[in-house]
Amino acid sequence: MTLRIGYIVGSIASGSINRKLAEAITKLPVEDVEFFEIPINELPLYSYDFDADYPAAGKELKAGIEGADGILFVTPEYNRSIPGVLKNAIDWASRPWGTNSFNQKVVAVVGTSPGAIGTAAGQQHLKSILAFLNTIQLGQPEGYIQFTPELLNESGEFANDGTKQFVSSIIEAFVALIHKVND
Ligand SMILES: Cc1cc2nc3c(=O)[nH]c(=O)nc-3n(C[C@H](O)[C@H](O)[C@H](O)COP(=O)(O)O)c2cc1C
Repeated sequence: MTLRIGYIVGSIASGSINRKLAEAITKLPVEDVEFFEIPINELPLYSYDFDADYPAAGKELKAGIEGADGILFVTPEYNRSIPGVLKNAIDWASRPWGTNSFNQKVVAVVGTSPGAIGTAAGQQHLKSILAFLNTIQLGQPEGYIQFTPELLNESGEFANDGTKQFVSSIIEAFVALIHKVND
């Protein structure tokens, strides 16, 4: 059975290196997986004033998450935490109260930064939020990826075999966890 993995990029920057990472992941030769993006760029800033009448962008976000077999977060670290745009999207998906779209959803987190710790601090904050939202998280391997000009080739694929194998091992472990939870 082909798994449908939705990915959320935690950046709306036009030249986002995390989007480049996400796109490289979708090009990995992993069998029986279909990746699709769950966009966050059209979401207004969340307030509970919207709960009585969710806008289309909020409904589509929730439907995308709920329809996926697993959710892969590919996110930058901002000020040792997660970008506000990502927290905003998570808040949208968690509401209206009682309809948390992440409930018991299998999730994994990766991210890239030019810095040496490769979003490790930001990912810890994200994993804490996702624990509160009752997700089932991939613990290992962790995906802290330093972005260098050599990471990707001109086709947007991982340029180095070792990196390609490492990132593939994260996705394979994620797929195995999804099967373990859902089959
Ligand atoms: C507001 C802001 C805060 C940042 N804070 C961090 C940080 O805490 N750690 C880090 O490694 N990089 C930090 N950076 C640098 C980002 O890693 C870099 O801008 C990266 O390109 C962001 O990912 P993106 O291109 O996918 O948006 C920060 C950048 C911005 C704009």
